[in-house]
Amino acid sequence: MSQQEARSVTVRAPAKINLFLGVGPVRPDGYHPLATVYQAIALYDDVTVTDDERWSVQLTGESRIDLAEVPADDTNIAIRAGQLLVEHHGLGERAARIEIHKGIPVAGGLAGGSADAAATLVALDRLWDLQTPDDELLELAGRLGSDVPFALLGGTAAGTGRGELVEPVADTGSWWWLVVENDEGLSTPAVYAAFDRLAHEIGDGTVADPIIPPALLAALAEGDVAGLAASVGNHLTDPALLLRPDLAHTFEDAEAAGALVALLSGSGPTVLLLCESMAHAHIVHREMVDKGHTRVSAVPAPVSGVHVVTSPW
Ligand code: C5P
Repeated sequence: MSQQEARSVTVRAPAKINLFLGVGPVRPDGYHPLATVYQAIALYDDVTVTDDERWSVQLTGESRIDLAEVPADDTNIAIRAGQLLVEHHGLGERAARIEIHKGIPVAGGLAGGSADAAATLVALDRLWDLQTPDDELLELAGRLGSDVPFALLGGTAAGTGRGELVEPVADTGSWWWLVVENDEGLSTPAVYAAFDRLAHEIGDGTVADPIIPPALLAALAEGDVAGLAASVGNHLTDPALLLRPDLAHTFEDAEAAGALVALLSGSGPTVLLLCESMAHAHIVHREMVDKGHTRVSAVPAPVSGVHVVTSPW
């Protein structure tokens, strides 16, 4: 293999959380309109791409990550991202080997697959020197999945449409979250379906169009942790609890451990605990571990979106 063919690029992509996830009535295409605020947190997947004759994906991960649920064939969203970029630029038979090292829990409501797709777009764009304009990358990302554009952007951003239309918002805070992982994943479509069921069974079937709470945006702009704790929310909490009643214990434990607030991450089952500071995060972390939660990480936020970490030649 020539040196040209052996080149690789590694790109890092963050997990996302939703500080607010407002869900509206299901659309004719099956998606739900969202009014959400995303934040990128310091859990990452690294994606390395290398020229190859055919598409393939190799998976490794940190010891706490369950890789069994991640497809290792053409259905992996990273391969779909690569193929979409090739099609967009008319590159014919171009292909790559994609190595994914996962630090983001799988099926946890942290958009790990979306992070991999966003990282693959940027890594291949660099490997092949395509210089795809940002607006085109965002558009391709939106076609791959609702959360993929935010992974490109990172930081803190409002999301509308089905979540794919992203706009940065002012955030002066240095936030600390505890991420409480769960042994069993939760399917996003199943949680949205439970949302629809609850709307019909408990409500009268009408769901209001969601809006981002102005108090949340003010708390972010001011870096006000008490204000943030008072204004976070997630409309998928009840549907996720319907499917996974055991999650109620995590919320109870979080409160007893002294978290400012506990929040379901996306469609779950990961639960996020907002802490006042790094020192406070250490204390709450110890309490959660004492209560039997073994996979708990303290992470700062916000962090950057996808970025190149190595391109060694
Ligand atoms: O866009 P993405 O492929 O990540 O969405 C996965 C699934 O989550 C969709 O098939 C749909 O069932 C659900 N979803 C939704 N409304 C959204 C985003 C996702 O119903 N805004």
